[in-house]
Amino acid sequence: MRLLHQFFFCLFLSSCFALSSLALPLCSDSRAPLEVNSTLSFCPYKVKTCCNTMEDSNLNKQFQAMNISDKGCASVVKSILCAKCDPYSSDLFRDNSDQQSVPILCNSTSSANSTTDFCSETWETCQNVSISGSLFAASLQGRAGAPSNNNTSKLADLWQSKTDFCSAFGGASSNETVCFNGEPVTLNDTTPVKPPSGLCLEKIGNGSYLNMVPHPDGSNRAFFSTQPGIVFLAGIPDQDSGGVLDVDPSSPFVDLTDEIHFDTEFGMMGMAFHPKFAQNGRFFASFNCDKSKWPGCTGRCSCNSDVNCDPSKITPDSGSQPCQYQTVIAEYTTNGTSSDPSKAKNAKPTEVRRIFTMGLPFTSHHAGQILFGPDGYLYFMMGDGGGGADPYNFSQNKKSLLGKIMRLDVDNIPSASEISKMGLWGNYTIPKDNPFREDKDLEPEIWAVGLRNPWRCSFDSSRPSYFMCADVGQDTYEEVDLITKGGNYGWRVYEGPNIFHPESSPGGNTSAKSVNTILPVMGYNHSEVDSSGKSASITGGYFYRSETDPCTAGMYVYADLYGNGVWAGIETPANSGNFVSNRTTFNCADDSPMKCSDSPGSSGPSLGYVFSFGEDNNKDIYLLTSNGVYRVVRPSRCNLTCSKENSTAARRNPGPSSSPSSSSSSCYKHMNGFYGSLMVLFVSLSLILLGSLN
Ligand SMILES: *[C@@H]1O[C@H](CO)[C@@H](O)[C@H](O)[C@H]1NC(C)=O
Ligand SMILES: *[C@@H]1O[C@H](CO)[C@@H](O)[C@H](O)[C@H]1NC(C)=O
Ligand SMILES: *[C@@H]1O[C@H](CO)[C@@H](O)[C@H](O)[C@H]1NC(C)=O
Ligand SMILES: *[C@@H]1O[C@H](CO)[C@@H](O)[C@H](O)[C@H]1NC(C)=O
Ligand SMILES: *[C@@H]1O[C@H](CO)[C@@H](O)[C@H](O)[C@H]1NC(C)=O
Ligand SMILES: *[C@@H]1O[C@H](CO)[C@@H](O)[C@H](O)[C@H]1NC(C)=O
Ligand SMILES: *[C@@H]1O[C@H](CO)[C@@H](O)[C@H](O)[C@H]1NC(C)=O
Ligand SMILES: *[C@@H]1O[C@H](CO)[C@@H](O)[C@H](O)[C@H]1NC(C)=O
Ligand SMILES: *[C@@H]1O[C@H](CO)[C@@H](O)[C@H](O)[C@H]1NC(C)=O
Ligand SMILES: *[C@@H]1O[C@H](CO)[C@@H](O)[C@H](O)[C@H]1NC(C)=O
Ligand SMILES: *[C@@H]1O[C@H](CO)[C@@H](O)[C@H](O)[C@H]1NC(C)=O
Ligand SMILES: *[C@@H]1O[C@H](CO)[C@@H](O)[C@H](O)[C@H]1NC(C)=O
Repeated sequence: MRLLHQFFFCLFLSSCFALSSLALPLCSDSRAPLEVNSTLSFCPYKVKTCCNTMEDSNLNKQFQAMNISDKGCASVVKSILCAKCDPYSSDLFRDNSDQQSVPILCNSTSSANSTTDFCSETWETCQNVSISGSLFAASLQGRAGAPSNNNTSKLADLWQSKTDFCSAFGGASSNETVCFNGEPVTLNDTTPVKPPSGLCLEKIGNGSYLNMVPHPDGSNRAFFSTQPGIVFLAGIPDQDSGGVLDVDPSSPFVDLTDEIHFDTEFGMMGMAFHPKFAQNGRFFASFNCDKSKWPGCTGRCSCNSDVNCDPSKITPDSGSQPCQYQTVIAEYTTNGTSSDPSKAKNAKPTEVRRIFTMGLPFTSHHAGQILFGPDGYLYFMMGDGGGGADPYNFSQNKKSLLGKIMRLDVDNIPSASEISKMGLWGNYTIPKDNPFREDKDLEPEIWAVGLRNPWRCSFDSSRPSYFMCADVGQDTYEEVDLITKGGNYGWRVYEGPNIFHPESSPGGNTSAKSVNTILPVMGYNHSEVDSSGKSASITGGYFYRSETDPCTAGMYVYADLYGNGVWAGIETPANSGNFVSNRTTFNCADDSPMKCSDSPGSSGPSLGYVFSFGEDNNKDIYLLTSNGVYRVVRPSRCNLTCSKENSTAARRNPGPSSSPSSSSSSCYKHMNGFYGSLMVLFVSLSLILLGSLN
């Protein structure tokens, strides 16, 4: 599946990300391995495995049925059969399909050391041993000369020689696959855990934004959206150019404020540009609206009898009615303002198509980020809907879309009758491999369950299988999750790694035993940042993939919304899916083009509220805060030591700066006047917004 995605992705974006020979532990059906308490009874896997006890016992039966008399051959065949249970099984099989039952066997091509020629070992120990229903024969089906039944066979009946056998089953590890050497895949635990010496930031904009999306045409421009619903298209200054964001506040890209309900936790929560935006001009906004104010704001209520919720029995705060406020994804186009979407400086605020509408039970925790994945599908993050500790247990309810990550196909739009027949919430189709195929109880939109209020997710731009989401905690723990197909991230059975007990639960409970919770990979306790009782709320960021700061390269950077800290997480060992994260300091460059706000009593900048992160087309990372837009710059601009810094700088800046025509100093002045007054509004609203985000 994963290879297929890679292939699709390459077609799609015509730019391929090289997979390192090992990525994340992932099963051949793209699910996360299970965490098990003890060793499986048949296969030699423990802690993390892709087999549950039932699959393990089926493999045992299959093995017994093979009736292999020779002990040496039996042991080799058993290890091959059990490769399915390896936590890296998605990397071990050539096409990752269930039909392919034999992993790639390491052959002499892999290594000069003949003891790792597992393919030869298999041939030599098994060539003259009878195997019933041989898995080697099964994987030959469809090939010329393959046996057409399950009869007992010897390898030597099927292949003329070792060379013949190993050209069919052998291979070496490559960027896409890992060969199997008879043992569970092991990783070298050699990564030194070195937190970066600190992040160096510059301030390049005064606006207060919730979202930043780089222009899909690859240029040095990005879209920025505000919570009230205005989108700007801004030129990004080159690193080291001394420039600031080139944005004209009097000429937004699009202004959607008329349809959007903007309040403490409401507004424009997300935006996404179609991967082929440069050709088709399609873009999407995710926002909240008020049914009592706008007739276009009408959808099915998420509190309904399918999920054991009676809207007449719930009372949202702020004197509103249940499902008065809705969450919406709407599609827009640059058609009509420009024949070439890349040249479009603005778009009309006229909705082309409604993608999704759903009524919200309460007034908080409705996340709302939208994001195109590397597979071309639209991922939609949804919180538990609020009401305090998920009283209706929506996040664990497979029939509810609250507390979930959804995955939608917005390229194939069904007819109105298909939409109503399938009970969809709008104009989209369901990707064929969404997890409801294997778990019929799941609503078909769902990709992952058990989220509380996923506040900012991202795909690693170098490794598409790493889909990270920060999930805001309740009272004790802020978490970062590594999202996999069908994964359950625990809320409200768990808050972070701890069992959670709600004060009241009219919607019932889910027992800890009945769910396979995937624990967070990073996070922090409120007590670490919050000795004074100040709240904590996580804001997820990105894997840092820019060459600007080589000492942060490869780390996942995230922050606390209240400016309580910035963290950098390192995966250790590499590709293990295990992370260690450390709080890192952040400083403002002396030559920052805009003055960073001073933090009282410290030399670093005061970030204010860290609403979100952004990544541009050069993979540089931005912090979107209530005090403005900050960018991570090279460490030496803050006098931080990073020995690797200048070895990459030459590649990064080949020749004189080619920054856009904007004059940064005049732009700075221009923006100050506009934002000076807006900032007062934003900051006061933000205070309220973030107070209740938790
Ligand atoms: C693992 O098993 C032990 C002993 O049976 C038990 O005490 C422990 O709670 C189990 N851990 C998990 C995560 O199930
Ligand atoms: C297993 O193989 C032995 C000979 O090696 C044979 O006698 C026996 O009948 C076989 N059992 C089955 C179930 O095929
Ligand atoms: C081959 O590998 C084995 C075990 O992995 C090791 O003991 C042996 O020294 C290696 N031989 C060579 C020539 O590298
Ligand atoms: C081989 O056996 C399996 C199960 O024992 C069966 O499902 C399959 O159809 C058989 N294949 C052939 C070609 O007889
Ligand atoms: C090793 O595997 C590759 C890939 O299947 C094959 O082309 C090659 O012939 C094999 N080498 C040997 C020595 O068996
Ligand atoms: C594997 O990846 C490395 C580095 O990412 C690249 O240089 C190499 O060409 C890739 N090899 C193949 C076979 O794709
Ligand atoms: C482990 O280390 C050895 C020797 O340093 C190296 O050849 C091998 O590729 C490493 N394996 C992985 C999975 O990184
Ligand atoms: C916009 O124009 C493109 C290119 O002509 C076309 O493919 C697309 O369907 C148009 N979109 C809308 C919403 O009209
Ligand atoms: C599909 O889109 C059209 C055009 O925006 C809209 O009229 C219709 O209500 C949408 N269908 C659903 C189920 O949202
Ligand atoms: C980084 O964090 C880990 C555990 O999270 C801790 O063991 C280690 O000491 C920390 N390193 C530094 C330099 O703070
Ligand atoms: C960096 O060093 C220079 C020269 O030593 C000094 O003037 C400057 O204040 C230092 N900047 C910071 C942020 O420490
Ligand atoms: C890298 O280059 C910059 C300017 O070109 C310089 O200020 C800095 O000290 C250099 N850093 C290192 C680690 O050599």
